[in-house]
Amino acid sequence: MTETAPPPDRSRRTRARLAARTLRTDRWWVGPLLTALGLAAFVGYATVRVFQQDHYWVPEYHYLTPFYSPCLSASCAPGSAVFGTLPWVFPWFLPYALVSLPFLLLFRFTCYYYRKAYYRAFWQSPPACAVREPHAGYTGESRLPLLGQNLHRYFFYVAVLISLVNTYDAAAALAHGVGLGGLILLANVVLLWCYTLSCHSCRHVIGGRLRSFRKHPLRYRLWTWVSALNSRHMLFAWITLGTLVLTDMYVLLVSSGTIADPRILH
Ligand code: FES
Repeated sequence: MTETAPPPDRSRRTRARLAARTLRTDRWWVGPLLTALGLAAFVGYATVRVFQQDHYWVPEYHYLTPFYSPCLSASCAPGSAVFGTLPWVFPWFLPYALVSLPFLLLFRFTCYYYRKAYYRAFWQSPPACAVREPHAGYTGESRLPLLGQNLHRYFFYVAVLISLVNTYDAAAALAHGVGLGGLILLANVVLLWCYTLSCHSCRHVIGGRLRSFRKHPLRYRLWTWVSALNSRHMLFAWITLGTLVLTDMYVLLVSSGTIADPRILH
């Protein structure tokens, strides 16, 4: 009679059996801590602003904060809803940018860089290289709910459309004369494009599924540009969180009359 071998114990085979959580002696926790603070600060600010439903539009200069674009509530300030509105006044718990915000959130939430950031900072899976995670098992992104991370490639296309809307907003502001606010909207949208086009899915759309670039010189050229942006994706991920907050804050201050917008060209 043949003896059946016991099933292999994967956890023992793949993990070092160390009593200490890590043998690292450097301050490895600083990175995850700063990441957690940065992301929490952005989410806190954005949440307050998105539900404030006020001070998002400067009619004289056509400044619309990206957090409210496109504005879709029937109660959007006159002139701010350039793409039209839905036939309802939104209650306080519905953001005026009801269609774009969820997709922007999902685009960032499933971004390859942000995944790394919050897996480390919040999920502790793992918190840093060579630091044991507290979870007993690991299924990666092969099962629900993390299986949904694979939808990132589709959110990329929606993010491109929303970047076009933001580009329209910046152009509309500049078409009403050049002020500091218009330049801030423009800088913000340029950086948003850098973040969106440096997406790993974009790089795959441009240069993926090819056996050779030899017959596709244009795609090769675009792929080299996107690859150059892609190498700075983490940088753009953080910079755009900052520029989104600064742009929104500027619109808030001008809209509420706290500061005046310096005009450069009328
Ligand atoms: Fe970060 Fe796509 S990988 S936006």
